[in-house]
Amino acid sequence: MTDDWANSRAEPGLDLHLELPRGGKTEALAAAIRGAVREGRLAPGTRLPPSRSLARDLGVARNTIAEVYGLLTAEGWLLARTGAGTWVGPRPDAAAPPRGVEPWIVPPLDLRGGIPDASAFPRTEWAAAVRRAAQTASAAELGYPPPLGLPVAREALADYLARARGVHASPARVAVGRGFGDLLAVTARALHAGGARTVAVEEYGHQSHRDILSAAGLCIRPLTVDGDGAVIDELDADVVLLTPAHQFPTGVPLSPSRRAAVVDWARRAGGTIIEDDYDGEFRYDFRAIGALQALAPEHVVYLGTASKSLAPAIGMGWAVVPDRMLESLAEARLPLGRGADPLTQRALADFIAGHHYDRHVRRQRAAYRARRESLADALADIPGARLGGLAAGLQCVVELPADVSEAEVVAATAREGVGLQGLASYLPAGRASRRGPALVVGYGAPPEHLVGEAFAAIANAIRFAPRAPGRG
Ligand SMILES: Cc1ncc(COP(=O)(O)O)c(C=O)c1O
Repeated sequence: MTDDWANSRAEPGLDLHLELPRGGKTEALAAAIRGAVREGRLAPGTRLPPSRSLARDLGVARNTIAEVYGLLTAEGWLLARTGAGTWVGPRPDAAAPPRGVEPWIVPPLDLRGGIPDASAFPRTEWAAAVRRAAQTASAAELGYPPPLGLPVAREALADYLARARGVHASPARVAVGRGFGDLLAVTARALHAGGARTVAVEEYGHQSHRDILSAAGLCIRPLTVDGDGAVIDELDADVVLLTPAHQFPTGVPLSPSRRAAVVDWARRAGGTIIEDDYDGEFRYDFRAIGALQALAPEHVVYLGTASKSLAPAIGMGWAVVPDRMLESLAEARLPLGRGADPLTQRALADFIAGHHYDRHVRRQRAAYRARRESLADALADIPGARLGGLAAGLQCVVELPADVSEAEVVAATAREGVGLQGLASYLPAGRASRRGPALVVGYGAPPEHLVGEAFAAIANAIRFAPRAPGRG
């Protein structure tokens, strides 16, 4: 026999269905939650209701719920952090997901590389821009958009990029897409159609970007990254993808001599540089490093995105391309489906023209600057830990003492509900790391009131990591 609490009102917006076998309340409830996790009804990462509201819904004492949460946390079924709540942990007995179907789990405290603070998203101003877009779009703008984007968006972006990032831009040379990834795919296909076959890519970076380039038919050649950015002397390819303002994820800018060297390479070899300016707006120590594109507009495809400055959900990116590539870019667009949706393009144009974009970036620059200072403070007294790449962006690198394992520190932070990645995980498969153990810490995403806790969890994971003297 079972008692059945269907759709109990655990807290606004969160219904928890639990079947409670007969028996002592604590054990019965623990068994019910274990069963729900085992059967996959409560997925990893699901946040459980606060003990007070679950107790009220189930008609049991609050202490019973606290005891059950404590028991299941000790057993590893649940994860908990003071202030952040309780959520379902990874299933210890989980069968491997089918190939290519990774579970989509956002860690409760998300410190993966370079995700912005969603709690700071300018909801009111953005909603007003979307509303105006819907109310004022012309009949043509409500139809299928031109392949390179709506004129109004291309104009606003050309104006903004020239003013704020020093890009040589005119509306005719701006293309709008669904984000960086989308425009990288379009650019890669256009370059392949024009005869390019190889692309050099900084050895540290996103596998998804390497996959996009490979899917376009380009063969990847990894480029070493050192303290001055990508090693340009190694360049032997038709195209190079770079993050010159703030290498992702190591955080170093491409040095002035290497900026000059890569432009020289492009002119000499007829090569194309794809500049990924993903977080160029966020520079903290001195004036922003201008876009590399300004040095050689006829050799650089400049790509930017709203994913860091506003939010990934906006789904907007922009390209400024050499004149000679405009036609091939428009042709490459078609087989890849339409780009950004026209109403969002219009909303972004309105948001930029009303200077809301500038205001938001300036506000966030100050907020992120303060966060990186708290991170530096939290890690200041840990012997052997060193921060790098802090001068810009939303992520930095924490070099670990040489006798500590990157994977063990990542696992220890995960147990505290803090999700981040080791530096080595950004290398392509099979490429050996030439650097010591390090963490990539994205400090943009956690809500302001949990930032301190997240940083303390990282500091503790390093401080109490097992030491293996042979490793160093
Ligand atoms: C290095 C780098 N480039 C570009 C992007 C933006 O990509 P998208 O516009 O597709 O979200 C990201 C976002 O994570 C990034 O880390």
